[in-house]
Amino acid sequence: MLHTQSVGSIIGPKTENRELLIDTNVNMYSIKDDLTSNWIYFAFKAFEKISTSGSYTSFATVGTGNGLDALGASIIFSDLEKLYLSDLDAEALNLSYQNVYRNLLDHQRKKIQLKIFCGSLMKPYPDEKIDIIYANLPNIPSDLDLSEGMLSASFYAHKNIFKFTDSNSSLIKELQSYLLELAYAFLYQARHYLSQRGKVLLNLGGRVPGDLVQSMFESLGYQFNEVLCGFKFQTEADLVIPGYAKYENQAVTFDFYLYHEAVEVLKKNSIPNPSFELDSKDFKKILEPFRLTAHEALVEIGKQNPVGHICYVIEGSRKNS
Ligand SMILES: C[S@@+](CC[C@H](N)C(=O)[O-])C[C@H]1O[C@@H](n2cnc3c(N)ncnc32)[C@H](O)[C@@H]1O
Repeated sequence: MLHTQSVGSIIGPKTENRELLIDTNVNMYSIKDDLTSNWIYFAFKAFEKISTSGSYTSFATVGTGNGLDALGASIIFSDLEKLYLSDLDAEALNLSYQNVYRNLLDHQRKKIQLKIFCGSLMKPYPDEKIDIIYANLPNIPSDLDLSEGMLSASFYAHKNIFKFTDSNSSLIKELQSYLLELAYAFLYQARHYLSQRGKVLLNLGGRVPGDLVQSMFESLGYQFNEVLCGFKFQTEADLVIPGYAKYENQAVTFDFYLYHEAVEVLKKNSIPNPSFELDSKDFKKILEPFRLTAHEALVEIGKQNPVGHICYVIEGSRKNS
């Protein structure tokens, strides 16, 4: 069964009040009324900001899900000539193609090459240079059957664990312990596809140490920049938080926050959500009194207290670009 939703308002001002409709199936994110509960809301804010810094003609989204990220990109990056979507899930991919195509204007259908590629990370892409490569990937390794329900948005198959040539390095081990392995694999592969002015944009939960995320980018030769930082409601908490708790130990914990208290303190300090001024370290300092480990977050959701987490969109560009 498909669910049709109007998505113009989440994409933002450049839609010029056009009626934009997408279909989702049960395995895809649908759009939640509270804008900051949607990852894609933060992505579009970042796209807006990046679009003011230059002209970009090619955009790829890795793990597109319902295709809304690509549809938003086609509107926000007005010079696009190539729009590439990929996912592991072939059914999602066909629907995402239709979601984008049906909403393109006539002149865009003529101008933009719209293509889909089924497969993991950058593997299915043709050997071409791309200006913007966006991803919001699952973090939690799992042995579950990921073909059912929303699981592949948050979990990835253990068997796909990557063999890095330098897999014994202490950085890789630390990235693995903080569940950043798939993000690292994406950044590792994406470098080859970036055009000279190209950027990777990673939409990432700030449940992990910020310095480690920065080292992940810099170790691969990227210039690291946080485009924006925000605070997001933890959706699918019953599924996701136990996933993080399983990987906690004495040395490794993940950062969650009491939702209402965090929202309140941001409001009290007049901090917009997202903020282009404050980075993830500033957010963590402000929210520190309400911080919870995944184990503590489990207890809170058991008491019906909602929790949230920091999210940020990070830009990785070529050094010297
Ligand atoms: C968190 S959702 C992101 C959806 C959308 N791009 C967004 O930003 O809201 C993650 C998506 O990545 C896909 N995915 C998971 N592992 C992947 C992989 N190794 N390669 C490509 N896509 C993957 C999932 O099927 C899912 O559609």
